[in-house]
Amino acid sequence: MQIFHTIKEVKLYVDEKKQLGHKIGFVPTMGALHQGHISLIETSKKQTDITICSIFVNPTQFNNADDLKHYPRTPDNDIQMLQNAKCDVLYMPEVNDIYPNNEILNFDFGIIGNILEGEHRPGHFNGVGQVVSILLKGIQPHKAFFGSKDYQPVMIVKELIKQQNIPVEIFSCPILREADGLAMSSRNKRLTNEERKVASLIPIMMKKAADLVREKGVTYAKLYIDEQIQQQPLMKLDYYEICDTESLNTLHDIYNKQAISLIAVFVGAVRLIDNLEI
Ligand code: PAJ
Repeated sequence: MQIFHTIKEVKLYVDEKKQLGHKIGFVPTMGALHQGHISLIETSKKQTDITICSIFVNPTQFNNADDLKHYPRTPDNDIQMLQNAKCDVLYMPEVNDIYPNNEILNFDFGIIGNILEGEHRPGHFNGVGQVVSILLKGIQPHKAFFGSKDYQPVMIVKELIKQQNIPVEIFSCPILREADGLAMSSRNKRLTNEERKVASLIPIMMKKAADLVREKGVTYAKLYIDEQIQQQPLMKLDYYEICDTESLNTLHDIYNKQAISLIAVFVGAVRLIDNLEI
């Protein structure tokens, strides 16, 4: 695996490969890799000739300085995992390679940018938009792969490439889970043993609540989640919503609609997200 630290080097490499007719796949990450990330690398490898992974803990998408400071960083292990997965290129930039002149781009993603994560983490999507547009414009892959664990960000990225006319195909890949159902996440590494046990309740609650949405309605399911979380002193609910899968509008009933449940919950100091189609 080749490791580059500047976008210039990556672009030169990509241009050479494109001249040979190769299709380029790209998987952006913030590192502290787990099998969920590797599943994106594997999907890219199946669909393209060359797979590039980036690792960059993007400061502009953190609206909480403490979260940025404590974001797990495991570069040696990441490199090993990517080598084992036969990733072709790793791009590991410093902040000034991504943001050389501190230029701030401001995006308007409309309603999907202002609800759920947009409402609860102000500025987060603008930061995601900034870094993803810089990466996609710099690397110019044919395809880019994202995880559906970040359901709303994938919608934001699709809107971004439409607004910015970036010629790339976006793929949304399934959520990988731990054996007990907890969605894999770099932030899981920050949980204490006790918190990790409590976190495993999230997918169980989500599944039960999805059944309740179908059987008794949205209000009932939301009450159930509130009650369950109140019983756990280590947990604090940020939001639990049932939304339309396309528009992300919050739903009060699911009659004739395709719905998805989305949750953000603090376990101790760690904020976890998950989603489940209804
Ligand atoms: P990060 O959290 O490192 O995630 C990188 C990619 O891995 C995202 O597309 C995410 O949805 C996917 N992913 C995370 N957990 C997953 C799981 N359990 N199963 C499948 N895929 C999973 O998301 C980001 O980084 C950043 O916001 C980024 C897009 C890189 C922009 O900075």
